[in-house]
Order: sequence, then structure tokens, then C-alpha cells
Amino acid sequence: MRTGKSCFWTMLQALAFLPTMALKDSQTSNKKITEEPEFERPIGNHTFFLGREAVIGCAVTNLGKHKVGWLRAEDQTVLTMHDRAVLGPRYTVNLDAPQTWQLRIRPLRAEDRGCYMCQINTQPTMIWQIGCIDVFVPPDIISDDTSSDVSVQELENATLTCKATGHPPPKITWRREDHEPILLKKLQSREFEKVESYVGSSLPLLRVDRRQMGTFLCIASNDVPPAVSKRITLLVNFAPTVKVPNQLLGAPLGTDVKLKCYVEAYPNTINYWIKNRGEMLLDGPKYTIREEKSSYKVSMWLTINQFSKNDIGTYNCISTNSLGKSEGTLRLYEIKLNSQSDDFNNQISIAGGLTEAAKGISKVQLPSNRILKLTLCSIVLSNMFM
Ligand SMILES: *[C@@H]1O[C@H](CO)[C@@H](O)[C@H](O)[C@H]1NC(C)=O
Ligand SMILES: *[C@@H]1O[C@H](CO)[C@@H](O)[C@H](O)[C@H]1NC(C)=O
Repeated sequence: MRTGKSCFWTMLQALAFLPTMALKDSQTSNKKITEEPEFERPIGNHTFFLGREAVIGCAVTNLGKHKVGWLRAEDQTVLTMHDRAVLGPRYTVNLDAPQTWQLRIRPLRAEDRGCYMCQINTQPTMIWQIGCIDVFVPPDIISDDTSSDVSVQELENATLTCKATGHPPPKITWRREDHEPILLKKLQSREFEKVESYVGSSLPLLRVDRRQMGTFLCIASNDVPPAVSKRITLLVNFAPTVKVPNQLLGAPLGTDVKLKCYVEAYPNTINYWIKNRGEMLLDGPKYTIREEKSSYKVSMWLTINQFSKNDIGTYNCISTNSLGKSEGTLRLYEIKLNSQSDDFNNQISIAGGLTEAAKGISKVQLPSNRILKLTLCSIVLSNMFM
């Protein structure tokens, strides 16, 4: 093989001189006496697609009684001799009249990439020329070297890998299937940078964040269609965290009160409500329990129908998964609308006993001021706990 190769390169170097020497010979003294064969133009280098047909031509003038042969340049294997195929059914030769000898290879394989020599059996030395073909191969993803779904704990490192074959070598591009940007941790920073896509065979994700969870597409593409892609899902596992938007809720008796918790967790959680550290509350006439899930986020609602004195107390929303448990606490109290204003009226009547003039105004204004204050108070309180 080694000697064969170096022999080939010597021949290639010789190629630089041979045709011109032949040309000179024929152009000068010998031309009128014997018409020697000549190559009319170079074979050239050509590109074909895998599985299709490669056609390269060797244009010869003054062939006379000589014969044209096609050889594989690398190992000098003879493929065709004049009008006959010598090496298997994939190779054929035909004369594209008047003088181009075409080598056809079909169906084209990747191994056919290389150089081919067109040779004429002139005496004492044969003349030849070389042309090369490149075989373009569409991309294909190598399953064994490509990540399947990846599951990590939050804050661990993860790397998604995708390898593909093809010629020219395919480019690997990563995107999120949901078209959201990919979050990449900036070097030496806690911050994330948002990118539409990422180019590279592996997508490094440092200290993975829950927001990076999702399905990624690795897309392999080169100049040969079609591009191919594979879905890789990144699962980020973490114990539940619970957020309560309003920890303190006041409501008048008789109304329906809605309690709300937001949970984040993966894998999936079991979520429920308890009252005063007692039993789990069940959906029914008294309580309406609802849950809404979107990826790793769950919104939990508990509606207490017909709020009564018995309902005053502490409620907990509880969320558990395989990695842990978390809860939120809400306190529910009564806003005494009517009785408060009654008290006020009483107070005002007492106050009114002192100054008859103030009474008329106070009776109308004070209760509503008081309600306003209560409402403000509950807003301030709930904001404090947000
Ligand atoms: C054809 O391809 C061969 C091998 O790749 C290269 O050595 C040669 O220079 C090319 N010739 C032309 C005309 O591009
Ligand atoms: C994650 O990768 C970074 C950078 O390569 C390294 O410094 C760190 O120790 C890795 N963390 C874990 C949990 O493996």
C-alpha cells in the first residue's frame, strides 16, 4: 500500500510533464507523419451525491488503434478496458461520440471518493490523465454517540452530545423544541445568556437551572439535503418550592374565599391542603380544590365556600415529590364589616352625645372610613408577607 501510494505520487508529479511533452512532440516534427493520441481537455474534479451516478469523461483525439482504459488511481485497479467493464456491475464505460470515453459508477458509494486515471496504451510510454470525484453524503446522526434523554439534579453539570456522519462534515446546531431561547451560563458568572441556537457537537450546561429543562433538538446539516434532527430531553430534578402570594387573608363571613399557592418541582408532585395542621381537605361542597400544571410549575387553589367562623384558622398547601416536601402557610381571618360599623355607630352615638353637631356627619362618614382602613390594613399585611 505504502509503495503503491508513493508510486502514485511519483506518477502524479510526472503527470505535470507528460502531456506537455506529448503535445510538443506531436506539434513539431512528428505531427504530419504519425498522429499520436492526445487528451483534448482535463477530466476535472467533480462532486456527486451518494447513491446516485458519477460520470466522468476522458476526451481523446487521434486515438487510432489505441485503447482507452480507466483505472482507480490509488491502487491502479483496472476498471474498464476500452468498451468493456472489467470490475463488477457498478462500473460501465461508454463512448460519448465522437471521442469522449465516459466512466460511469452507479450506485455511488462513499468509498468511490478518490481519483481516477484515464490511460491510453501508447508506445513506448502510456499517456494518462487524472480526475477526482468527491462523494457528498447527507448527514446522519450516530445514535450510539448521541445523548438520549438526560436527567440531572439541579445545580449539577450536564452535557448534551450529538454526533453525526456525512460529507462534508455536518454542522451540529442546537435549539429548543418550544422555540424558547437556550439559557447558557456566562463564564465566571451566575447570570444566564439567552441564545436562539448553539453550534457545536456538545452543548455544555453548567450548574443546570430548572428553567433549562425541556426538549432540545440537535440538527445536523451539511451541503447535502435533508438535514436531520434528534430530540433530546433534559430533565432537571429538584425538591418542591412553594410560594404563597397572600399569606394573610381577611374575608367577610358568607363569601367564598380563594387561597392560592405556586409550586415548582420535578419530578411530579403530590399536592394537597390541610387546615389547622389536621387532615387533608377534600374537594366537595365546602372546598373546591383545583390544580393547574405547566411543565415544572403547578398552581394550587383552595376555595372555601360560604366562609364561616369555623373556617377561620391556618391553612397549608403541601407539595411532595421523590426529592422532598415543602409547604406554604396562609392565615384566614374574618373581616367584620357589619358588626364593626354597628360598634362604630354605637361609639359615634356616645360621641354624638357630646356634640350633637358632629353626630350627623360622623354617622355617615366614619363607618366607611373604617372599612377603608381595614381593607388597607389587609393589603399592607398581605404585602408584608409576599
Ligand atoms: C483535483 O483534486 C485533487 C485531489 O483532491 C487535487 O490534488 C487537484 O489539485 C484537483 N485538481 C483541480 C484542477 O482542482
Ligand atoms: C461543573 O463544571 C465546572 C467547570 O467545568 C466545574 O468547575 C465544577 O466543579 C462542575 N460541577 C460539578 C458539580 O461537577
